[in-house]
Amino acid sequence: MCGIVGFVGKRACADILVDALKKLEYRGYDSAGIAVFENDIIKTVKAKGKIGEGLSVKLKDEPELHAVCGIGHTRWATHGEPSDVNSHPIGNGRISIVHNGIIENYRDIKNFLIGKGYVFESETDTETVAKLLDYYYSGDPVEAIEKAVSIIEGAYALGIIFRNHKNRIYAVRKDSPLIVGKGNGESFIASDVTAILEYTREYYCLERGEIAMLDQEGIHFTDLHGEAIEKELLTAEWDVESAQKGGYEHFMLKEIHEQPDAIRNTISPRVKNGLPDFSECGLTADKISSYKHIFIVGCGSAMHAGMVGKYLIEALARTPVIVDIASEFRYRDPLVAEGDLAVIVSQSGETADTLEALKLSKAKGADTLAVVNVVGSSIAREADMVIYTNAGPEISVCSTKAYAVQTAFMYLLAFEIAYVRGTINEIRCRELVKGLLDVPGKIGECLEDMSVYQFVASKIFSADSLLYIGRGLDNALSMEGSLKLKEISYIHSEAYAAGELKHGTISLIEDGTPVIAVMTQTALKEKMISNVRTVKSRGAKVIMICRSSENVDTDCADYKVGLPDAEDIFLPLIATVAMQLIAYYTAVQRGCDVDKPRNLAKSVTVE
Ligand code: AGP
Repeated sequence: MCGIVGFVGKRACADILVDALKKLEYRGYDSAGIAVFENDIIKTVKAKGKIGEGLSVKLKDEPELHAVCGIGHTRWATHGEPSDVNSHPIGNGRISIVHNGIIENYRDIKNFLIGKGYVFESETDTETVAKLLDYYYSGDPVEAIEKAVSIIEGAYALGIIFRNHKNRIYAVRKDSPLIVGKGNGESFIASDVTAILEYTREYYCLERGEIAMLDQEGIHFTDLHGEAIEKELLTAEWDVESAQKGGYEHFMLKEIHEQPDAIRNTISPRVKNGLPDFSECGLTADKISSYKHIFIVGCGSAMHAGMVGKYLIEALARTPVIVDIASEFRYRDPLVAEGDLAVIVSQSGETADTLEALKLSKAKGADTLAVVNVVGSSIAREADMVIYTNAGPEISVCSTKAYAVQTAFMYLLAFEIAYVRGTINEIRCRELVKGLLDVPGKIGECLEDMSVYQFVASKIFSADSLLYIGRGLDNALSMEGSLKLKEISYIHSEAYAAGELKHGTISLIEDGTPVIAVMTQTALKEKMISNVRTVKSRGAKVIMICRSSENVDTDCADYKVGLPDAEDIFLPLIATVAMQLIAYYTAVQRGCDVDKPRNLAKSVTVE
């Protein structure tokens, strides 16, 4: 996620802004910049790269800045590769802004403004907001802000300065956090309290529909119509490290809780008038209609997202899908060829085996679609088409929100392929898209109470080995559940197709062996119950992940993790959070290093 800071007071602010930005580096970024009131103009200094290599180097080449007010930004690229011109602050001589979030309707706004004669320099969605503010600005900042935010759709936190309102900062937000810090004769804005703890622990939380105005006299809050608002002053009890985790004990838990927003930010911008819209990347209906085979290639969790994609695309679009581990794919002279689509999945966009699988697919003549989280990464740059998942930076080594958004995208891709190929009609496609858009809320329900996951963890944390079983989509989900558990708790775990157990693996079951059974697919329910009863009768300790409304007999399961109701097809995506939290609390109970598991790296850039 991007990082926003701002300062207004009576002392030089450039160094204060840079120091505050450094406190936000943990959020992940690829460029940084500041804009300050210097000699009655807005002076902007910004650069691609880390602060020490870009922004700070540029600032050293500048005459000393005496500004006492300004804004700053660390950019996690979503629209437009990392570059000086795409860096924030963004604006013209009149207005400058910093932005965290995703503007979903930026293309429409951009086209409107181009029609009004505006010329765009950057590839960012943010620039549309800066120019929209300029379009509406006729001397009253609050009026311009009110008009602009009534137009823009999506998530945003904005820090804004107007040249004609010297040493004053405005801030407004919707769905992206922003706090306002109250110092001693000075005030701040920041994406999170980490940035200002060195200066003050007193802060306000800016809410949706509120505008903050900070100047050298103090802090004022109004609603969007300029009516004054009184707000509660809060005191941060956190130290810097816990502030970076948003108060969560680990980044993994924080990132699990970010999943509803991450999925919204990934899916909503690819839905237009209720139907999938991949026009941004060039995946046209004609191309989709033409593909003979679809390959989905990745490593680890990315490959598991592809496995869910396989089940969905084959079930809905009746199109053959070959899913493969990148390190196998690249060495087996795969059958991918011209006329096929190779979907390359990678959070980092730098995984060596996945990158080579992409190059091989291209060399064999296939169209390549990269599904990546890091803008401008090697895989993104190499692919013919790119879809960026908008999960924000994933700090914890194990993949949670990245897997969730990759999988959510597989749903939307499956709907589009099926609709284009006519295996589902428009009504069904709209129904499925709406169901997908409802998933973040369902996941939010799963996040309301951690006790059931903590309870299950208490029943399995001392195990040496554990089985995850499922059928159909639940089998695909189980693969990810098993990986999560073993990679952070170090308990040996294996995902096994429930119907396959009797062909050998069931010999592993002995008294007390934990078995996590995922049962969300109604059509396979009786089969699953039969498989679960089989392992239970041999002594297994069964934890069932299923709908809360499911009546599970005690001769079938010892414990149940209930899910909110939804159409079958969406339950594996919703159940993702349950299996992540079971793994998380198991690792915590075993005293493991949750965010940095032994032997693992966040991105495997070597073979
Ligand atoms: C999963 O928790 C791991 N972090 C790992 O399996 C990861 O998914 C895999 O290494 C692929 O990484 P990528 O998505 O960055 O290519």
